[in-house]
Amino acid sequence: MFITFEGLDFCGKSTQIEKTKEYLEANHKKVMLIREPGGTEISEKIRELLLDKKNSKMHEKTELLLFYASRVQLLNEKIIPKLNEGYFVLSDRFHDSSTAYQGFGRGIDVNFINELNKFTLSETKPDLTFFIDVPLQTISNRKLKRTIVELDRIEISDIEFYQNVLNGYNEIAKMEKRVVIINGLKSIEEVQAEIQYYIKNHPKYEE
Ligand code: TYD
Repeated sequence: MFITFEGLDFCGKSTQIEKTKEYLEANHKKVMLIREPGGTEISEKIRELLLDKKNSKMHEKTELLLFYASRVQLLNEKIIPKLNEGYFVLSDRFHDSSTAYQGFGRGIDVNFINELNKFTLSETKPDLTFFIDVPLQTISNRKLKRTIVELDRIEISDIEFYQNVLNGYNEIAKMEKRVVIINGLKSIEEVQAEIQYYIKNHPKYEE
C-alpha cells in the first residue's frame, strides 16, 4: 500500500508517520518511510534549493516544477520498485502538497497541477491519504515557538498563505475518496488509533 500524510507545517505528521511505521512493522510488514521533497540523492539536492531561504527570488513556477522534479525521481527510483516488492510505502507529503501549497497557496492553476499529476504519477497514486487537520491558530502558536533561523523558505510564509493552503486541503478531501481527515487536536494516541483503523480496514490491506 502507498500511504501519504498531509497537512500544514507543524501539524504533527512526522510523529504519526513514525508510529505508523512501528505499528506496521510490529505486524510483520515491510515498510519504507520517505519524505518530500527529498528521498533520493537527486531529490535531496532539489530539496536544498527549494527550502533555502537565500533563494528568495525563486519564481512560483520554478518552485512548482522543482517539487515535481524531485517527486518524479523519488517515484521512479524508490516508490515504484518498493511497492512492487510488497512494501508499505509511507510518505511525509506527496502530490496533494503541491495542489495545496502551489495551487491554493501560491495561486497556480489547479487544473494545470492536475495535468502535471497525470503526466508524472500515471498509475501510482496513493491508496490512502491522511490529512492531519489542525486549526490555523494552533499552527501559528507552534510556529512562534521556533526562531526564524529554524524556519525554511516556505515556512516563513504569512498566515494568509497558510489559510489558503488549509482551504486547499479541505477541497482535495472533498474531491478524493482516498483522503481521510483526522482531527489533529486529539492526543497522539487517539490520532494513531484512527490511522491504524483506516489502514486495517482498507480493501488493499492484508493481515
Ligand atoms: P519540510 O521541512 O519537509 O516540512 P514538513 O516537515 O512540514 O513536511 O518542508 C517541506 C516544505 O515544502 C513544507 O513547508 C511544505 C512545502 N511543500 C510544498 O510547498 N509543495 C510540495 O509539493 C511539497 C512536497 C512540500
